[in-house]
Amino acid sequence: MNQSQLKRLVGTAALEHVRPDSIIGVGTGSTVNCFIEALINSGIRIEAAVSSSEATSVLLRAGGIEVVDLNQTGGLDVYIDGADEFDAHRRLVKGGGGALTREKIVAAASKTFVCIADQTKRVNVLGAFPLPLEVIPLARSLVARKMVALGGRPQWREGFTTDNGNWILDIHNLDLVDPVRMEKTINNLAGVVTCGLFALRPADLVLIATEDGVEQL
Ligand code: A5P
Repeated sequence: MNQSQLKRLVGTAALEHVRPDSIIGVGTGSTVNCFIEALINSGIRIEAAVSSSEATSVLLRAGGIEVVDLNQTGGLDVYIDGADEFDAHRRLVKGGGGALTREKIVAAASKTFVCIADQTKRVNVLGAFPLPLEVIPLARSLVARKMVALGGRPQWREGFTTDNGNWILDIHNLDLVDPVRMEKTINNLAGVVTCGLFALRPADLVLIATEDGVEQL
C-alpha cells in the first residue's frame, strides 16, 4: 500500500469514533481530508463540527456538514486529527500544515483526542520533523534567537500566514528527548502563540495505518 492508501485506510477507521448526532472536532491535513471524505460517504449524520482551520471548514461545508464555533458548543466528546510524528507515549509533533494553534485549542476542549496517522509517522524520539511554532510577527527574530539558545535551528516559513494572522518558525535539530519539559519551556517564551508539541496533552488514542491493517496505540 502506498501512503495515500494508508491515509484512506486510517481515515475510514476513525469513523468508529464518531457518534451519530454529535458535534465532533475535526483537525487539518491530508489524513484528516481522508477522514472527512469517509465521513461524508458513510451516511453517518452528525449535528455539526468544530473545525481547526479554514481549509477544513471549506471541505466540511462542501460535504454538507455544518461548521460551528467552539464558543457555541462547550466541550466536545471527540477530536479527530493527524500528526507529523508520534511516539510510543502518544506524544505528537503537529503543525506541518500550520494549523497548530486551533488544533491545540480543539484538542484541549475534547474528552478524547483520536490521532490518525500512517506508520511513517512513528518515531522513537520526537524531533526528526522540524518543530513548528506559531509566533506573533513582531517576535519572530526574538523567538528565533531564543530557540538557537535552546539548541535549535529556526527556519522562518516565509510567505506563509496562519489563519490567526501570525507566522511560523520551523525549528530543526531540537533535542526532544524530554518533550514535556521542552513544551513548557517554549510555552513560556514571549511571542510564542503555540508550540507544535502535543506532550502536555498527548493523544488519547493513535490509530496507525500499516500494511497489515489499523493498529491502536
Ligand atoms: C496541520 O497543522 C498538522 O498538524 C497536521 O495534522 C499534520 O501536519 C498532519 O498532516 P498530514 O495528514 O497531511 O500528514
